[in-house]
Amino acid sequence: MRDQRRDFEAPTSRSYKHLRERENSALSYEGSRRKRRSHLRWAIGITIVLILAGGAGVGVYLFMTMRSGGTTSSGAVAANAGASMTVTKARAASGTSTTTTTTRPVPTPSTSPAVLPPTGKYWFGMTVTNSTEQPIQHWTLDGTGGVRPMLGHIFILLQPYNFTTPADLADYFMRFFGGIPSNGVLFFTVEPMNGISVDEAPDERIQELADAWRELNIRGYKVLVRLGHEMNGGWYPWGRLPSAFQDFWIRFATIVRATAPITSLVWSPTISDSYPYDQRKVPAAGSVDMALLDTNLNGELDGGDDPYAGYWPGDEWVDWVGGSIYYYGPSFPYNDNFVPDGMWLERTLTGKVTFTGVQRGPSFYDVYSAQKRKPFIFAETAVYHWPNGTGATELDQKQGFWRLALNRTTMARFPMIRGMAWFELAKNEEAWQNQFIDFAIGNDSTILNEFLNDVTPPGNAAANIDTTMFQWGA
Ligand SMILES: *[C@@H]1O[C@H](CO)[C@@H](O)[C@H](O)[C@H]1NC(C)=O
Ligand SMILES: *[C@@H]1O[C@H](CO)[C@@H](O)[C@H](O)[C@H]1NC(C)=O
Ligand SMILES: *[C@@H]1O[C@H](CO)[C@@H](O)[C@H](O)[C@H]1NC(C)=O
Ligand SMILES: *[C@@H]1O[C@H](CO)[C@@H](O)[C@H](O)[C@H]1NC(C)=O
Ligand SMILES: *[C@@H]1O[C@H](CO)[C@@H](O)[C@H](O)[C@H]1NC(C)=O
Repeated sequence: MRDQRRDFEAPTSRSYKHLRERENSALSYEGSRRKRRSHLRWAIGITIVLILAGGAGVGVYLFMTMRSGGTTSSGAVAANAGASMTVTKARAASGTSTTTTTTRPVPTPSTSPAVLPPTGKYWFGMTVTNSTEQPIQHWTLDGTGGVRPMLGHIFILLQPYNFTTPADLADYFMRFFGGIPSNGVLFFTVEPMNGISVDEAPDERIQELADAWRELNIRGYKVLVRLGHEMNGGWYPWGRLPSAFQDFWIRFATIVRATAPITSLVWSPTISDSYPYDQRKVPAAGSVDMALLDTNLNGELDGGDDPYAGYWPGDEWVDWVGGSIYYYGPSFPYNDNFVPDGMWLERTLTGKVTFTGVQRGPSFYDVYSAQKRKPFIFAETAVYHWPNGTGATELDQKQGFWRLALNRTTMARFPMIRGMAWFELAKNEEAWQNQFIDFAIGNDSTILNEFLNDVTPPGNAAANIDTTMFQWGA
């Protein structure tokens, strides 16, 4: 699929660059943290209620005052607005403060998202495609056994779909989800390729999708929507526009919540130790966006800045958090096959440099998932297996990855992780010298059998996976 390829190529194409940067990185997180604290004290002095998002020292600049009545910025949003609030964004950089005010509807609290696995359960699923070779056919052993994932993930554009009714658009989407059980989870990554302003992403486009999701909810499916993923990098049209992204997120969430009752929103930045990845689309000095992103106040977008806080639209607007988490290897240039070590995932999820374990930024898991009580999903995840490469075997790589991500030790450390969409594809990666990279589990019967042995009873002692945690489809 075109969207899928685009989605995938962008992160990998930056890999070479960010790996070089990573190796040069000498920025001290502790230093930036101290500066941030003194900035926070100063900011409180000028007006602003600061929400300190947890122990990692993340300053969130949102200040909200409730007010009754008020107007909303768009027709579709108005339907949901019994009252409204003024959201003031303020952030001081280099001694001046910039404030913008927009009027927004009162949010629906989401402490308990509409879409959530049963208590103690985990949804393991995959990226699905519309090819004749549906991955789910492999995983169910062509319907004779195996496992039937509850969750399928696709990439879609925010665009006119031109169907006559929401049911027609829902039918169109269902072509991608063949084999997902009728009480399953349809996970959409929505890519606003035309931009995120009201003109570029009009309410009607959002409403069209929301109406189709409502239709799918009525048919019994749960819907997860990952909107504008990897927004904290500069490679997508919606990327590195923190102020506009927050506005867009809230506009989108308002329409979806007013329309599709069993649909939850997943906030999913790039999580890696190489922020800010590159210098594409760095906001102008003195702009609101630069004030949101330059959290260490040194006038630059750099590795000492908080990678996430500027894009967070507010706790009440987010239902789940997630990330695209791939394992490439321990050291650039990665032209070989590697198995992640036992601490790699922990380092990745908690803001440490994956090579060294040195703390570099906020712990994504602790700040955004555990403290905010948002369930976490691996929205795209896999290990790079390069059939032309040397090194570890395909089985050791893939099994090493799923055992690391799913085992009891990991689940005890990260109990808010409630699901995973494995990147079940094989494709040529332009950014990797057009090498064929095979991410899939189910495409090889040896690997699939090992997976099934690990995740279904009685399990495999070597894997240390609690096989009872999975909810599978009937
Ligand atoms: C998906 O596959 C079906 C059956 O092969 C086909 O009719 C349909 O046009 C495809 N849809 C897309 C979006 O490619
Ligand atoms: C719907 O129609 C518009 C206008 O003709 C077109 O630009 C757009 O690509 C169409 N959408 C799809 C999904 O084909
Ligand atoms: C389980 O995960 C932990 C990290 O949470 C890791 O250290 C350990 O090696 C993993 N065990 C297996 C069998 O993969
Ligand atoms: C399965 O493997 C074949 C041969 O290597 C490849 O052509 C195909 O793209 C793979 N499909 C998936 C879903 O991994
Ligand atoms: C392996 O490498 C060779 C030489 O670069 C190339 O011709 C071939 O297409 C590659 N095969 C795959 C599966 O990527």
